[in-house]
Amino acid sequence: MPISLRTQVGIVGAGPAGLVLSHLLHLQGIDSVVVENRSRQYVEERVRAGVLEQGTVDLLVEMGVGERMKREGLIHYGVELRFHGHSHRIDFKDLTGGKGITIYSQHEVVKDLTDARIAAGGQVLFEVEGVSVHDFEGAKPKIRYRKDGQAYELTCDFIGGCDGFHGVCRPSVPEGVLTEYERVYPFGWLGILAEAPPSSEELIYTYHDRGFALLSMRTEQISRLYLQCKPDEEVSLWPDEKIWQELHTRLAAEGWELTEGPILQKGVTRMSSFVAEPMQHGRLFLAGDSAHIVPPTGAKGLNLAVADSRILARALADFYATGRHDLLDGYSQTCLRRVWNVQRFSWLLHRFPDENPFDRRRQLAELDYVTSSRAASQSLAENYVGLAMEW
Ligand code: FAD
Ligand code: PHB
Repeated sequence: MPISLRTQVGIVGAGPAGLVLSHLLHLQGIDSVVVENRSRQYVEERVRAGVLEQGTVDLLVEMGVGERMKREGLIHYGVELRFHGHSHRIDFKDLTGGKGITIYSQHEVVKDLTDARIAAGGQVLFEVEGVSVHDFEGAKPKIRYRKDGQAYELTCDFIGGCDGFHGVCRPSVPEGVLTEYERVYPFGWLGILAEAPPSSEELIYTYHDRGFALLSMRTEQISRLYLQCKPDEEVSLWPDEKIWQELHTRLAAEGWELTEGPILQKGVTRMSSFVAEPMQHGRLFLAGDSAHIVPPTGAKGLNLAVADSRILARALADFYATGRHDLLDGYSQTCLRRVWNVQRFSWLLHRFPDENPFDRRRQLAELDYVTSSRAASQSLAENYVGLAMEW
């Protein structure tokens, strides 16, 4: 027999979406339980995103989890776009009225949030097995899972489906309810983490004949670099020397040097865009990657997950305070406006395998425009630092 438990909001997934939701609810006096199938160590070491929009930073600070980020995060007020071997800076501060981005690893955000949940007596259950969601079309949804061999049934008022793209929540919505929009790109990113001081103070996005390359960073000692590659690229075919050689070629610019260092980690990420609409069915609310995926070019995945959770937390708080449903009913629409804007902000920098010389010329003209017109630079900058939209 499963042990019966009860909470107000049951949350599946202890990634950024689930932890932000749980902590925001706690700050409003609403009880939640987070169930996560991986170990705490695994979740806290998973290398993923690294760029936080101003709005994400402000929210984390407001939530009281921004101390370490403020100390260790690197604030950037611009990025470089590089093509034809020349660099063009997009000056965020000037173009957005003082806004910037913060470089701080997603797994550090996850650590800070987990620490805060646990310090506040919150329940984040790691290494649970066999998670399933039930009865969310009625008033008493349930999450079933096993932990240490014991079965549990957690009855809640609402479920937050924050379990990422491969989770169980979205596939549990009955067929025909969700419309799914998808585009799979014919390339991937080979990403490395290197023990090398970043060769630039700001991120460099490069468009090159051989494909896109990106120089990013995690700290003043650690660089994060990416190369556009085939979606099914075999990492073993990329010894360290070959990676550095390719990075030197694609990132080359006059008077600029790429600093090398030991490669600590490498991996290939496939690239796709995906949106499920609506992001809610009954009392199951999808947030973050469980509802949508964006290619990392715009550095938005984590920021979108945080935005969803903020919107959901506010709607739930309003429901518990007033009994009103309107914010909950509008949840999906409010989130999707931002989601589609972010999908639109897919970048100009990849080379598509089937493009012809015309496409290439057009793409270069687009880059020329974006770096020479103030209006176009401003549009890019305001998207990059985060759109001022309801959340
Ligand atoms: P997740 O972070 O995926 O969290 C979901 C959580 O749910 C996970 O902890 C998972 O273990 C758990 N879970 C899954 N299934 C279950 C289950 N059945 N039961 C219980 N728990 C479950 N974005 C960028 O902006 N820049 C990047 O460079 C970048 N790199 C990325 C690299 C990879 C390999 C991936 C997958 C994503 C990357 N992203 C990047 C996207 C960004 O990291 C995500 O958008 C972000 O993690 C979304 O947060 P989330 O909380 O919605 O989902
Ligand atoms: C990263 O640092 O991992 C990163 C930065 C910018 C992007 C994508 C990834 O656009």
